[in-house]
Amino acid sequence: MRKVLGIETSCDETAAAVYENERGILSSFLFSQTDIHKLYGGVVPELASRSHLQKINPIVQTALDEAKTKLTDIDVIAVTNKPGLPGSLLIGVCFAKALAYALDKPIIGVDHIEGHIFSPYLTHPEIPFPHICLTASGGHTSIYLVHGFGDYEILGTTRDDAAGEAFDKVAKLMGLPYPGGPIIERLAREVDFQDFCNYPRTKLDNLDFSFSGLKTAVLYDLVSKGAYDLKARKVLKPDDQKLKQEVASSLLVCISDIFKNQIKKALKAHPEVKAVTLVGGVACNKYIRAQCLELCEKRGKQFFVPAPKYCTDNAAMIAFVGNYKAAQGKFSDLELDILK
Ligand code: KG4
Ligand code: ZN
Repeated sequence: MRKVLGIETSCDETAAAVYENERGILSSFLFSQTDIHKLYGGVVPELASRSHLQKINPIVQTALDEAKTKLTDIDVIAVTNKPGLPGSLLIGVCFAKALAYALDKPIIGVDHIEGHIFSPYLTHPEIPFPHICLTASGGHTSIYLVHGFGDYEILGTTRDDAAGEAFDKVAKLMGLPYPGGPIIERLAREVDFQDFCNYPRTKLDNLDFSFSGLKTAVLYDLVSKGAYDLKARKVLKPDDQKLKQEVASSLLVCISDIFKNQIKKALKAHPEVKAVTLVGGVACNKYIRAQCLELCEKRGKQFFVPAPKYCTDNAAMIAFVGNYKAAQGKFSDLELDILK
């Protein structure tokens, strides 16, 4: 039996989890800093690091308590060491190294994106290889061909903004709070996900993504509707519910179409894949999930998404990766550094 403590502090969640190779996830606990960063319309790195420092000890302790596990019963410590905000990553990595040193236990550095790629296995251990994985969150949007645990290749990535970032930025342009994705989804549902504005579906020849043109198209649409003052950078119609619903719904349908186009292309280029997964914060979106499911069913492919709590940043996915890396003998050492 192997018990893995997972620690994740790459952005604005302080998270810890305990995974056991025989029973799976025993606990997964986090503190979200959303309320701290809300005031500023995005994550403030210095505030993020300070909050991680305050929370990491109690969060790790709570995860251990919930798993009814003593620190001395932990066999491996897995920690996110890249990519992410340097100050935030440092808190998790230093904490994990101190634990590993004091307990004389091995440490494993985990790539945050690898955590997302394998997060669907926490609830669906049956997902076949090879499969296509679309990761879509606030910091990254990429498509991967996944051959096995820890064995994956990138097929395409965003050239500019991430999909979640497009939701967050458009929400800000309409005076809506951060994070924008869940609010945009709610507004879009109120008008049955209709496409009012027909925003441009950026089409690239390869499997890359680009969302900055879409963001600009929405910006100029809002300006033309008298809803945003470009010079003063001011939201002009924050109470126009109909306008917000129409823009939100059109944006969501557009991003969903862009995802579907790229998934279709990836499946065409790799007909051998048996399944598609959608991961990251944007995978919480029920409309996008339903659209991708329909597409996959039509093509005879299985489709999987993680449980919503494992879509957004969490430590369970980090502990999961730590577990298979330990089984593969891929340990780090106390020289482990951030962003390497
Ligand atoms: O994976 P995540 O928690 O953090 C990063 O690694 O970035 O993803 C956060 C992103 C935010 O941009 C947020 O707006 C988006 O996920 N998001 C959503 C939804 N819930 C969260 N986007 C669309 N629809 C949602 N329901
Ligand atoms: Zn993430």
